[in-house]
Amino acid sequence: MLTPKLVIAGGNGFLGRHLRAHFERLGYRVVALGRGPGAGSDYAQWDARTPGPWAAALEGADLLVNLAGRTVDCRYTAANKHAILASRVDSTRVLGEAVAACARPPKVWLNSSTATIYAHTAGDRPANTEAAGVIGDDFSTGVAMAWEAALGARPTPGTRRVALRTAIVLGPDGGAFPVMARLARVGLCTPQGSGRQWVSWLHVADFCRAVEFLATQTEADGAFNLCAPNPVPNREFNGLLGRALRPLVRLPQPAWLLKIGAFFLRTETELILKSRKVYPQRLLDLGFQFEYPTCAAAVAELLNA
Ligand SMILES: NC(=O)c1ccc[n+]([C@@H]2O[C@H](COP(=O)([O-])OP(=O)(O)OC[C@H]3O[C@@H](n4cnc5c(N)ncnc54)[C@H](OP(=O)(O)O)[C@@H]3O)[C@@H](O)[C@H]2O)c1
Repeated sequence: MLTPKLVIAGGNGFLGRHLRAHFERLGYRVVALGRGPGAGSDYAQWDARTPGPWAAALEGADLLVNLAGRTVDCRYTAANKHAILASRVDSTRVLGEAVAACARPPKVWLNSSTATIYAHTAGDRPANTEAAGVIGDDFSTGVAMAWEAALGARPTPGTRRVALRTAIVLGPDGGAFPVMARLARVGLCTPQGSGRQWVSWLHVADFCRAVEFLATQTEADGAFNLCAPNPVPNREFNGLLGRALRPLVRLPQPAWLLKIGAFFLRTETELILKSRKVYPQRLLDLGFQFEYPTCAAAVAELLNA
């Protein structure tokens, strides 16, 4: 039997490393596309913007996952906004061109998007599903919409396409969680701002399992929310961290202080103050089962890891 092949664009980052390990355990050959120099049959160098020899890596792939994108953990200056948008749209556009030119195109293309595509959703308002969600009108939403538009920009007959509207992925060794845990250990495990804003999240193990699941669902295309079915208020999320880590002090985090802190840390408060209430309706309808459906279980697993 032929060894199945997965190509991960932007595969050297936090999610890419976890996906590689997950799919290698399943017996896949995994090839990463990255901008840095590298060697070997499991790596191809690209610039994430222009066609090149890297496109040969896509031939005969069973699955293509695009995770390329400049980090959003920065000040939203004009230059950073441009880089955030361009890195996502250009990489998706050039992958579309390469897929369309393949003699044996990837069977499935899962392209990253973000659950931040939905509007700030406060209080008791219903969680955003794929069918009934309210799309926002801020910078991050604009990026997500352009990202998904680039995925659909040109026909890819023979390649099924899915946009991954991924919530904050909680993992032990990358993304937001280690930072949150570090801050909680020194007392910053109190509600941030009002603490009423919703946090949509997903354990990294379930991110990998959802990617595997969507790869095998031959009818699945379009946008999927990748988040656990139980978003929690920020107050509750921080409470979980506080109870597990028991810092000696608990420091208040009003919104005005967070804004000053974000300025000095060269980041944006949107990342913690936007209310993200998202529901994985389509995954659940297809029968996907979460290993970590509750935030308490996910946090407990990560902090004991
Ligand atoms: N982690 C999360 O909680 C989360 C949630 C929702 C959505 N996402 C999205 O999922 C994707 C992967 O997330 P991650 O946490 O794995 O991020 P990451 O660790 O920062 O990895 C992103 C990858 O993108 C590539 N990259 C960085 N800057 C780039 C640029 N200017 N142009 C082209 N490629 C660039 C890097 O690859 P090279 O430097 O090797 O080229 C890197 O491996 C991102 O697009 C992110 O927005 C993540």
